[in-house]
Amino acid sequence: MFGRERIEYKTPEQVLLMRRAGLVVADALAAVRERTVAGVTTAELDAVAAAVIGDAGALPSFLGYEGYPARLCVSVNDEVVHGIPGPRVLEPGDVVSIDCGAIVDGWHGDSAITVVLDEADPHDVALAQTTERAMWAGIAALAGAERLGAVGEAVEDVVDAAQAAGLNGGVRYGLVEEYVGHGIGTAMHQPPDVPNFRRRDRGPRLRPGLCVAVEPMLVRGERHTQVLEDDWTVVTDDGSRASHWEHTVAVLESGIWVLTASDGGAAKLAELGVTVAPLA
Ligand code: MF3
Ligand code: CO
Repeated sequence: MFGRERIEYKTPEQVLLMRRAGLVVADALAAVRERTVAGVTTAELDAVAAAVIGDAGALPSFLGYEGYPARLCVSVNDEVVHGIPGPRVLEPGDVVSIDCGAIVDGWHGDSAITVVLDEADPHDVALAQTTERAMWAGIAALAGAERLGAVGEAVEDVVDAAQAAGLNGGVRYGLVEEYVGHGIGTAMHQPPDVPNFRRRDRGPRLRPGLCVAVEPMLVRGERHTQVLEDDWTVVTDDGSRASHWEHTVAVLESGIWVLTASDGGAAKLAELGVTVAPLA
């Protein structure tokens, strides 16, 4: 998508501005997660996000983006990303990926979670957990690596290990390749691309001021996807279920900082042996 275009490296002061947007997104997703239960419509979830973003004096970044009609993407079961909130009623056992973006004073935050509803298939629970773990491994790679390609390598390693451990019942997981993470800052999507898989091109060198969204998408079957008639909703070709997790992360002189996590990523990254940059 972005090739070798210029990367917008942020000053520490600019990262602090991005943190404000990140915290609005974290708060919105926390509120939406509470309401993500069977019987609720996906439009109701969008309304919860609208209220949190509005009360914070922020703007939703998705609404109006290339004509997108909502504040959240809510992607259920075989929907991978970009599901449009509407009258669909959530059911027990649904796998619900929820993506949210907000803008504060022109700076963006972008994050996604997957919620697996009660009475779930254990393989669906494992799918969501593996995808989340792959995201954190990708984030942790930003702390020590030389090049951005380390993110995709770490993501792919977690998926391979989970599969080898039998977490998908002997079926290969599919790691989606058509959609990738991205640089983020004064726009939601900036260079560089952040692929979730191993590539020969190891990507740009990691430098302080780089801010990226790390967002693996994992499916329980083939990785191939298609876009529905609504021109947005991305579904798996084979109908297998999908999970999507995302965080906005800053690379600083003093380390990394997960801007869309309320604790800056401290708890999850500690499990991976990474200390987050001092929070300001
Ligand atoms: N969070 C998504 C991403 O990272 C953006 C949603 S697409 C939109 O690419 F068009 F709905 F905004
Ligand atoms: Co994103």
